[in-house]
Amino acid sequence: ARLCVLISGSGSNLQAIMDACRGHILNATVVQVISNRADAHGLIRAQQAQIPTEVLNHKTFADRPGFDAALADHIDQCNPDFVVLAGFMRILTPGFVERFLGRLINIHPSLLPKYPGLDTHARALAAGDQEHGATVHFVTPTVDAGPPIVQGILDVLPDDSVDTLKARIHQLEHVIYPHALDQLIKGNVCYRQQKAYWTDGRE
Ligand code: GRF
Repeated sequence: ARLCVLISGSGSNLQAIMDACRGHILNATVVQVISNRADAHGLIRAQQAQIPTEVLNHKTFADRPGFDAALADHIDQCNPDFVVLAGFMRILTPGFVERFLGRLINIHPSLLPKYPGLDTHARALAAGDQEHGATVHFVTPTVDAGPPIVQGILDVLPDDSVDTLKARIHQLEHVIYPHALDQLIKGNVCYRQQKAYWTDGRE
């Protein structure tokens, strides 16, 4: 499968996906990495793996629809099977989301539907949650509300800080994102009637 990965920052999830492709754990190729920020460290990771990169600076566009239209055109040029958001920190317009519906995947650092949006680790700690996690989900027009594909769960430890919890969540993400993509690529799960539909009948 052809993957186009969108990033804004560190790109550790991108790294995990590239490693899984290279190790043939994932039957896929990252055909392009697109960042809206020129200083995203993930661009260096991609270059080191000899994967083509593109910077599309949202600040050079008049408005959000303008940026999204250019982004969508770039993505279409790569002809990807899946568009993988990996720490891409831009809200996407409904028009963009509809264009890639069912092929547009995100990872979010919480057990959705809990804690959409930012500062998820601090919010989980403040709420005294015993468990926290990360969710790979189909992207739909409402932010962080698309149907979950795979969730990873871990115990919150008594002495956890935002930083320690965040670090463990990141490690979990690096496992579940390639796993979820593998399931998608194998056709074991797809987007159907606004749900993640498992072809083996699981819920
Ligand atoms: C991850 O925590 C992901 O869940 C969130 O953004 C972060 C990206 O981290 N959407 P990285 O750039 O992959 O290291």
